[in-house]
Amino acid sequence: MKIAIAADHGGYPLKEQIVKQLKSLGHEVSDLGAHTLDPLDDYPDFAHAVAVAVQQKKADKGIILCGSGVGACVAANKHKGVRASVCHDTYSAAQGVEHDDMNVLCLGSRIVGSALATELVKAFAGAKFTAEERHARRLEKVLAFEKDNA
Ligand code: RB5
Repeated sequence: MKIAIAADHGGYPLKEQIVKQLKSLGHEVSDLGAHTLDPLDDYPDFAHAVAVAVQQKKADKGIILCGSGVGACVAANKHKGVRASVCHDTYSAAQGVEHDDMNVLCLGSRIVGSALATELVKAFAGAKFTAEERHARRLEKVLAFEKDNA
């Protein structure tokens, strides 16, 4: 699977670890920065890079890291076709994909430790949207909001 990843300075410490993990799981990783630790960089720039990669189908899924995961999530969800969530438990990281077709995982590098981050990424990357009728119906209703707001 193609996975785009990016992090601001708050998420930077975890990103390198996750890039290695994704590669070892056999995924094709697109690392969209930051490529150096810059305390003055801004999370919307990195959220935008991942969101556009997902929108343009250059990536099947995205992962964005910031300090809390919240700013990245808010910014990513402003992009049509992006369904991002902060998931700091493995149930949500998998179920968000299976039921809600979540395509971007946001992580707070200041909240989760490296071991939990590994499990969250594994759960997210390994999950697939079930497309069961009730989930497809609910997704259609969510997608209708994007059309209404166009
Ligand atoms: C950056 O210091 C921090 O505010 C940012 O990474 C993030 O936590 C925002 O939600």
